[in-house]
Amino acid sequence: MNTYSRIAGTGSYLPERVITNADLEEMVDTSDEWIRSRSGIRERRIAAEDEFTCDLAERAALSAIESAGTTPGDIDLIIVATTTPDLVFPSTACLLQERLGVAGAPAFDVQAVCAGFLFAIDVADKFIRTGSATRALVIGAETFSRIVDWTDRRVCVLFGDGAGAVVLEADERPGILSTHLHSDGRYNDLLCVPVGVSRNFDKIKVGEAFATMDGGEVFRWAVTAMSDIIDETLVANSMDRTQIDWLVPHQANIRIINAVGKRARIPGEKVIVTVDRHGNTSAASVPLALDEGVRDGRIRQGDHVLIEGFGGGFTWGSALIRM
Ligand code: COA
Repeated sequence: MNTYSRIAGTGSYLPERVITNADLEEMVDTSDEWIRSRSGIRERRIAAEDEFTCDLAERAALSAIESAGTTPGDIDLIIVATTTPDLVFPSTACLLQERLGVAGAPAFDVQAVCAGFLFAIDVADKFIRTGSATRALVIGAETFSRIVDWTDRRVCVLFGDGAGAVVLEADERPGILSTHLHSDGRYNDLLCVPVGVSRNFDKIKVGEAFATMDGGEVFRWAVTAMSDIIDETLVANSMDRTQIDWLVPHQANIRIINAVGKRARIPGEKVIVTVDRHGNTSAASVPLALDEGVRDGRIRQGDHVLIEGFGGGFTWGSALIRM
């Protein structure tokens, strides 16, 4: 008998502090009108100074564990997708494991920027299907505001902080029907933080580790990659686009989301959108949107949900899920 993974519960957490477009008008030369018309974003949440990625991940994880009706002690795999880990090491997943009061099961981070949650789901699904895990906690968590230059209007208006999580459980019935991942490292410099531990560490020491991007190129790539991968996912499952109940795309920009929906011919009323209130929360954006759709009753048991992400690297991925 085959083993599959199913989503047993979802959760999310957003920091309390809201930064509106009006607040940004006070900080940089921008306007609410520019931000809304170019990105669809009205506001975003920003972590408090003493609030770290692991804190956000913990709140989202506990909420997903509760909704799955399980306990931390029953989790036998923890994967955190993040670009903004608390520390260089240990991984945020190990820090979270300690917070959850459990030990022994493998815990590690994956780094695929805004596609990170898709990479993490893919890995967790393979652990479960091969029998290496039975109940996985998969989280996307970011304090992306820490790598944003709040004087750079081209970037700072687009991002926010948050965390989303799912519990995946082994099941005889397929929940995750397929996963698809891609990367193209040739474009690494179009969307990046050009400093790290091994390179340009001096800039980190003086607090200059900031995200940079070629907005236009990233926009074009994101639309193409995220609409092509919808076709790839449908073909792999011999499914028609009309069988998709919900599309949960990475929430970077409403114009990207609308262009993807149009190319993929998925009507807007089947697309979960949170970018207006969350901004781009990188690896957290897809699980945050998924949790919102589940909790407000739009996404129901048995629905076919296509989740997808695109990020720096470039990296992109999708998963087709039967809820
Ligand atoms: N407020 C006001 N003006 C701004 C601005 C801001 N926050 N940010 C940039 N501008 C200016 C620029 O300086 C530029 O001015 P110039 O033409 O005088 O040089 C102009 O606005 C650019 O405008 P436009 O070309 O119309 O922008 P756009 O339609 O390409 O939108 C982005 C810009 C960044 C919103 C869009 O390209 C985008 O969303 N790209 C993808 C980014 C992304 O999602 N990254 C993460 C992916 S995971």
